[in-house]
Amino acid sequence: MRTQIFLLAAAATLTYSTIKADNYVLSSENTSLIVAASKGGGEATYRYFGAKLTDAEARTLDYARAALGRSAYPTFGLNSVGEKAFMAEMPDGSLSLDPVVQDVERSTDKNGQLLIITYKDRVYPFQLRQYFKLYNQSDVFSTWTEYQNLGKKDIKLLRYYSANVPLPRGNNYATHFHGNWGAESQMQEHYVTNGETVLSNKQQLRNAFEVNPSMMVSFDGEPQENAGRVFGANLMWSGNFKMILHASNNSLTLLAGINDDGATYVLQPQEIFTTPELAMAYSTEGKGGVSRAFHRWALRHALMHGDKLRDILLNSWEGVYMNVNQPVMDQMMADIASLGGELFVMDDGWFGDKYPRNNDHTSLGDWMVNPRKLPEGIEGLIASSKKHSVKFGIWIEPEMANTQSELYDNHPDWILSEKDRPLRQGRGGTQVVLDLTNPKVQDFVFGVTDQLLSKHPEIAYIKWDNNADIMNYHSPYLPSNRQQELNVRYHQGLRSVLQRLREKYPDIVIQVCASGGGRANYGLLPFFDEFWTSDDTDAIQRLFIQWGDSHFYPAKAQASHVSASPNHQTRREVPLKFRFDVAMTGRLGMELQPKNMTDAEREFASRAITAYKDIRPVVQEGDQYRLVSPYLHGPITSLMYASQDKRHVAFFAFRPNFVYADLLPSVQLAGVDEHLMYKVRDLTPQNAKQPCSFNGKTISGRVLKQVGLRLDQVLNRPLTSVALELVAE
Ligand code: GLA
Repeated sequence: MRTQIFLLAAAATLTYSTIKADNYVLSSENTSLIVAASKGGGEATYRYFGAKLTDAEARTLDYARAALGRSAYPTFGLNSVGEKAFMAEMPDGSLSLDPVVQDVERSTDKNGQLLIITYKDRVYPFQLRQYFKLYNQSDVFSTWTEYQNLGKKDIKLLRYYSANVPLPRGNNYATHFHGNWGAESQMQEHYVTNGETVLSNKQQLRNAFEVNPSMMVSFDGEPQENAGRVFGANLMWSGNFKMILHASNNSLTLLAGINDDGATYVLQPQEIFTTPELAMAYSTEGKGGVSRAFHRWALRHALMHGDKLRDILLNSWEGVYMNVNQPVMDQMMADIASLGGELFVMDDGWFGDKYPRNNDHTSLGDWMVNPRKLPEGIEGLIASSKKHSVKFGIWIEPEMANTQSELYDNHPDWILSEKDRPLRQGRGGTQVVLDLTNPKVQDFVFGVTDQLLSKHPEIAYIKWDNNADIMNYHSPYLPSNRQQELNVRYHQGLRSVLQRLREKYPDIVIQVCASGGGRANYGLLPFFDEFWTSDDTDAIQRLFIQWGDSHFYPAKAQASHVSASPNHQTRREVPLKFRFDVAMTGRLGMELQPKNMTDAEREFASRAITAYKDIRPVVQEGDQYRLVSPYLHGPITSLMYASQDKRHVAFFAFRPNFVYADLLPSVQLAGVDEHLMYKVRDLTPQNAKQPCSFNGKTISGRVLKQVGLRLDQVLNRPLTSVALELVAE
């Protein structure tokens, strides 16, 4: 056996040195990805990811510095230079892997072209497959890996990143998004020095709060919105992750994958483990170009029902909090219908019988109607929704329990808990997390939604919330030597529940919420229609949060609600028009008690909702151009959306800061067509009879793009805003 292995290894070394690698090119309309590999020996190298090249052009890449030629998947143990994407412990304790290319195939799957490189270790029975994918009709590529244990003993995966992407080193800047409750997705931008920029998340269940699993890297100095070369990557995973931007004098590499801290995965004989995809785009049109590529891709491939327009809704949370009951729900449905809305969502507070949900101390897990609040049951609510001709939606938090619940009384072993330590409890002092690694618990979580939807097929929308992370890192279900797999297995369990749900209920609209935007990620969005952007509904705060989210996530996915003033989170007072104009840049909704609005406010709201319907396809399905960043902390911020043919445009500008001396530079509308003339309409005049001065005017596209709109007369007071529709004549 020993000699055999030795001979094999010698043969492989021989082939390695004599084989010439071939270029494998995947090209979209604007971008090419090139990997070099040779069937039957050697290592695969990452050659290029950048502006589109023909095959003939690609053959001359050797003369370009962009021909990176570095390992496509560096593994630990035999080569000491640089970060490694992979490390495993073989049954005999060896920590090295020496993968040799066996085969390179081209293939297709349901929505893309694939390039698959199969490697085997020279010595150990371990197979590695590296995938590169180009999504159909998009400029987004992805890459991931798959491991198979071909031996008879367990192999421990210690680090198993999805990707290792060499990038051109130069005047690089990195852009990433950080936050916390109430302030998600705050943009950070910095020069890339030698060393490592690490985005690492260990929040267990909500990986987008502290830091979003995404990054942009620019190659031409400080990133611009519509010019310069920029690369963007987003890890399609909902659990703990790591992204490492590793920079040295002459190299730059992005590594990304499941967080490897305390996350050893035991790969059993014959078992296959697949890592999450890293989605990637490259643009010569700056950060905006990368964002537009991601938005288009999301609508086509990575967001549930990406091709459908979203309803305008009223959510009950900030309006009545847990004081839900039949007459109030009926009144709210009547009100949103009268304002032109299309959907009503009953939030938290409707459930629990033995333990009624009147505050956040009890009832999670007991998904039956509280008969004292809703004596007519869900049937009564559906009857109201039919009466008022609005759709009906409902809030659940199915991955959780309270220790005061019938669920916990009956199944204390279903929650994540440590055997010999006191149970740590979250929100309300009693919230605990269900053990989704356990198939029985997965059945229960699936059943929560299944029972609601099978009994009440009229339910059109679900808000799927998650208000806790793992506080007791132990699964009563997993064996003691596999506790390190808890995070990975939790998210695999969640994914399998969502897959079952989507197979049975393909049409239901589902929002993913996690105390706000804790789950804004492409690990989950393929199953969900949108995410709750933030519990912070203050319009000024939202300018920053939505700006951050827009770098990777389309407007259609960002639930953006008009709430009361003063705002419940910040106590700030903001005019209704400003609040509407901000919410209209995303998926518009309302989150207040309409009964408390004045007649004038209702009149305005109903006009704004009608206006939003006119621009809904442009905002939700058009191309977004960020024009003036709120992160400049200047007097104004502005953005626009344009239909693909640029004939229909929605333009927004806001003045969050006001000092008389401030100069208001003209705003250039980067996304209009210079050859068209545009007729302008004020979408949301404060007074219907007094639209702003642009209303009814026709303006040349070239003037709008090259010279810009002057806004000093429109945004002439603190907290003023403007929303314009531009239609090509
Ligand atoms: C979380 C959500 C809110 C609301 C409450 C209900 O905080 O983010 O929108 O649904 O839970 O308890």
